[in-house]
Amino acid sequence: MGERFVIPAKGLSKEHILRALGERKAGDADFMSPRTWSLVYYLGEEHTALVREAYNLYFSENALNPLAFKSLRSLEHEIVRMAADLLGGGDAVGTMTSGGTESCLLAVKTWRDYARARRPLLRKPEMILADTAHVAWEKGADYFDVKIVRAPVGPDFRMDAAAVEKKITKNTILIVASAPDYPHGMVDPIAELGELAARRKIPLHVDACLGGFFLPFAERAGYSVPTFDFRIPGVSSISADLHKYAFAAKGASVLLYRDMDFFEKQFFVSESWPGGVFLSTGLLGTRPGGAIAAAWAALMGMGMEGYLEMAKTTMETARRLREGIGAIAGLEIIGEPMGSVFSYRSRDPKVDIYAVGDRMEAKGWHIDRLQRPEGLHAMVTPRHAIVVDHYLADLAEAVVAVRANPDLKRQGDAATYGMIARVPLRGAVRHEVFKMARSMYGAEARPDAGLGSGSDGGNK
Ligand SMILES: Cc1ncc(COP(=O)(O)O)c(C=O)c1O
Repeated sequence: MGERFVIPAKGLSKEHILRALGERKAGDADFMSPRTWSLVYYLGEEHTALVREAYNLYFSENALNPLAFKSLRSLEHEIVRMAADLLGGGDAVGTMTSGGTESCLLAVKTWRDYARARRPLLRKPEMILADTAHVAWEKGADYFDVKIVRAPVGPDFRMDAAAVEKKITKNTILIVASAPDYPHGMVDPIAELGELAARRKIPLHVDACLGGFFLPFAERAGYSVPTFDFRIPGVSSISADLHKYAFAAKGASVLLYRDMDFFEKQFFVSESWPGGVFLSTGLLGTRPGGAIAAAWAALMGMGMEGYLEMAKTTMETARRLREGIGAIAGLEIIGEPMGSVFSYRSRDPKVDIYAVGDRMEAKGWHIDRLQRPEGLHAMVTPRHAIVVDHYLADLAEAVVAVRANPDLKRQGDAATYGMIARVPLRGAVRHEVFKMARSMYGAEARPDAGLGSGSDGGNK
């Protein structure tokens, strides 16, 4: 029998509760620290304070009903218009969502329903994407019963339009490309894919969740950036996350369509529900007003000047890191990423990249591991500018240490990551992950195993 958690009989004091929360957080990855290389986007206290205050101003408001909270509708409208302008789609329409995953899921649903409306005989809709597309698309295909058809990536880890064309069948409802992809930071050849999509009359969605609020600023700051947005006529829809490089609060993305006839397929309407006539444009019912207000505040607070500065610092930092990593014997950058995201791997059989990851972790860096190919990941923000030399020195030392001690790959997380990545039977991996999830989410689980927790909800 696990520990019992019950709502405390009497409410605890504010000081007590906040102290307990503070204690729990103490062991987490530090979102302010440049030692963290994914998940968080932090520009500094001034910007965060603004976004937080804006969020708090709308803490209780619910964007579910835009007639009750008209100001939220106007804020969302302005955010969508600013995003459309930034992404070359002056007339594009769309909505805010709770994040990249919701944007991807909704795009799958919308394009499936668009195809169904036009092709009544369509049996099993298919969408074409590369392995490098974000896993949210796989989730969307699973949720909305769309078959995934995988298009191979070339040696540069980008999709190849000719290979995509070979995968088109009468059931194809959508092609998905990334700008850039999460694992390697590569921008797919959107111009070629757009030409193909227009010629074969198939919608092309550009997943710019990562790049939508980064690449346009880099381009305007004078960097050479491949065109990926609505300026390419074959692009039908784009997702772009505000809670990534727009530095908004979590829970904010936009999903844009070139045409209202596309967007309309995203709407859900119930005209006879006893609760009233109901319209919803996204997956959620209740929608936090704070996330919308915070996103608006982030765009207003940064302004073009702030974002251009952010993009410049990030581009220079990423370039220095890539060059430094490329100069470490035994390591290489995967593909040829040009922006804020990249990954690297070992090209020395004596250097296990996961063991390098462990060594970096032990030095206090939080780094994501990749598989197929095995590698380490970096999502660069301006915060990382001050740690480039430190990171590269630690990395060079880690590579030397791992090369000198081959046993390291059989220890610690390296052994686990290596085992997971190299097991040929993916069904076995899946089975293990299900087992882990059941134990993490079971009634007897101790997901935190830790700090400040107690059977009375933190009452110590
Ligand atoms: C390209 C891409 N698409 C979609 C997503 C999903 O975004 P979220 O984590 O906000 O749901 C991500 C997240 O990193 C991403 O990189």
